[in-house]
Amino acid sequence: MHRTKFFLQYLKNPRLIGSITPSSKYLIKKMISPIDFSNARYILELGSGNGCITKELLKNMDLESKLIIFETNEEFCKTISKIEDERLYIINDSAEKILHHLKKLKIKKADYIISGLPLAVLPKETREIILNSISKSLKQNGLYIQFQYSLRSYKQIKQLFSQVNVNFTSLNIPPAFIYICKYTKKGNKRQITQFAKNSRNI
Ligand SMILES: C[S@@+](CC[C@H](N)C(=O)[O-])C[C@H]1O[C@@H](n2cnc3c(N)ncnc32)[C@H](O)[C@@H]1O
Repeated sequence: MHRTKFFLQYLKNPRLIGSITPSSKYLIKKMISPIDFSNARYILELGSGNGCITKELLKNMDLESKLIIFETNEEFCKTISKIEDERLYIINDSAEKILHHLKKLKIKKADYIISGLPLAVLPKETREIILNSISKSLKQNGLYIQFQYSLRSYKQIKQLFSQVNVNFTSLNIPPAFIYICKYTKKGNKRQITQFAKNSRNI
């Protein structure tokens, strides 16, 4: 999909799209570099847009791996459905419904969750449901990798994941932070309910 088409989708719904242009190759590289593809049976991608990260994931994935993407925008889903790859499952639904769809696909947990969702501008309740669902869908020691254009969601994410490292690239419009989050049951002292209670004060 051309950048102009991406921009048109942004104009139609700026809050949901969250960006005027697809991610740069520099940001995409930083998003996928923490992934050990030899150990990635199930990868989820949330908010795949025109598929710029999707394509790089597919290029690097093993033949046996599966990529399940969640994208609410129908036009973006149509664009991505042109990618012919049996490892790819496109779900035209909100990332709030991850658990429901994983159950339907008989997938217990994901190894990696890659996200370009515009967390900071999503309604607070939606953001909470999505972050809770991410933490419940991720395998122990799995990674949740999320880019954002600000550090606004840092506190909320930090409450949910036992390890959060933040990377940065200025080579993107706009410059972006990359959160690399690990969920280890042992290190994660907070309960999801406690997170929800705390997040009301943010
Ligand atoms: C900032 S764009 C990122 C697009 C692409 N991943 C990239 O890096 O260029 C965010 C995407 O998230 C999608 N989105 C927003 N809310 C969503 C939700 N609740 N569930 C799934 N996708 C959502 C938007 O339609 C948009 O395509």
